[in-house]
Amino acid sequence: MKKIVVLTGAGVSAESGLKTFRDHDGLWHEHRVEDVATPEAWERNMDLVLEFYNERRKNLQEAKPNAAHIALARLEEKYDVQIVTQNVDDLHERGGSSKVLHLHGELKKVRSSVDPSLVYELQGWELKKGDLCEKGSQLRPHIVWFGEPVPLIVEAASLCEQADILIIIGSSLQVYPAAGLIHYVFAGAPKYYIDPRAAAVPFIPNLEIIRKTAGEGVPELVNRLLAWC
Ligand code: APR
Repeated sequence: MKKIVVLTGAGVSAESGLKTFRDHDGLWHEHRVEDVATPEAWERNMDLVLEFYNERRKNLQEAKPNAAHIALARLEEKYDVQIVTQNVDDLHERGGSSKVLHLHGELKKVRSSVDPSLVYELQGWELKKGDLCEKGSQLRPHIVWFGEPVPLIVEAASLCEQADILIIIGSSLQVYPAAGLIHYVFAGAPKYYIDPRAAAVPFIPNLEIIRKTAGEGVPELVNRLLAWC
């Protein structure tokens, strides 16, 4: 089976009602990154950070996979599909995708503040002050904050090196190292970028830009790719 790597960003979940970060109504227009998404913010004002992620978990509980998530799962009928997502929601898994790598963490998981290998599923949406790990440290969101390393980037780059086809969906490609993954895919591979406001990506060979929403563009592309086989 041919290997397809699908690199997704917040835009793939926009039609499920989850805000993106940098669009006009995005999360970074309502919150300062320095206040809610850095280790320094956690040290300075833990309550504010807890509230920010608790709110996002509540929203996720209301959200459902959309046509894009579901179409990507259908692609597995004829392709070996690996989702590499910047998203911390679980809509790819709930949409039926079997291989999902979360580069920036997972909203429904929490981890120890002293031992990052201690990761737990969170029951419900609320993480509170005083919720402790088995080593007695405060539990924190299992999210990669700005300024923190991205532990799974090497694995993601290796997956991209093996890709026969690349699909990028709903990302402004402004955040590294995730945005650099496109350069690991071999030049001859067909590449698609589905985003109504797709960023300029110069010097990428065999790239087709599809200026459509994920809900419209992804099912269309999936039908095209399934018709290939
Ligand atoms: N369908 C497809 N794309 C969409 C849709 C939609 N319905 N709605 C918006 N978009 C596109 C926007 O045009 C934009 O290019 O989604 C993109 C969202 O970009 P960002 O908000 O920058 O999100 P993303 O690229 O995922 O951010 C990367 O930055 O804040 C950090 O860790 C966070 O993982 C995140 C990373």
